[in-house]
Amino acid sequence: MPIVLETKDLEKHFGGIAAVNRVSLQVEKGARHALIGPNGAGKTTVINLLTGVLRPSAGRILLEGEDITALEAYRRVRRGLARTFQINQLFLDLTPLEAVGLAISERMGTGGQWWRLVGTNPAVVEEIVEILERFHLTDAMHERTGNLPYGKQRLLEIALAFACRPAHRLLPPKPQAG
Ligand SMILES: Nc1ncnc2c1ncn2[C@@H]1O[C@H](COP(=O)(O)OP(=O)(O)OP(=O)(O)O)[C@@H](O)[C@H]1O
Ligand SMILES: [Mg+2]
Repeated sequence: MPIVLETKDLEKHFGGIAAVNRVSLQVEKGARHALIGPNGAGKTTVINLLTGVLRPSAGRILLEGEDITALEAYRRVRRGLARTFQINQLFLDLTPLEAVGLAISERMGTGGQWWRLVGTNPAVVEEIVEILERFHLTDAMHERTGNLPYGKQRLLEIALAFACRPAHRLLPPKPQAG
């Protein structure tokens, strides 16, 4: 299988701490990997470097053979890289219905008018319903996200990553602080 995601001697230093020290990895198309290690090993920092939340101190990142080391995070999303966060990053005042609608509209390049599109475009409505069902959020779709139990919020976070229709997904396996 072709290599879709690759790092070469990736490094990130915070002051004197080498959080990531010369990491070279290759991810093949269709592969599933778990990044494991003790607290503070540098897992989240690697994901932050891959997704563009942080800039590396040294090294390179390639997505489908192209150097994305300096590319902004949102441009990486448009190239098919999606993630969830260890600590949920959700709009607490939106309902799951609204949040999924916003993610789909953003993917379609109409994020600025998402509130209009959600009700008027049958394809968008159909996709929202499908995603909410898939992630067991149908019952909760009209609830304020901030009022949902943590498990449902976690499902919504993953649903939003799927709504971007990414080619490559980076999902932390376990909910925890840090
Ligand atoms: N923004 C930051 N500023 C300074 N140091 C940081 C920063 N982010 C992470 N670190 C340090 O870098 C190291 C790696 O942290 P990181 O959060 O990547 O670990 P982790 O493997 O995700 O840990 P956990 O299992 O607890 O989530 C730790 O020593 C941490 O204290
Ligand atoms: Mg972490």
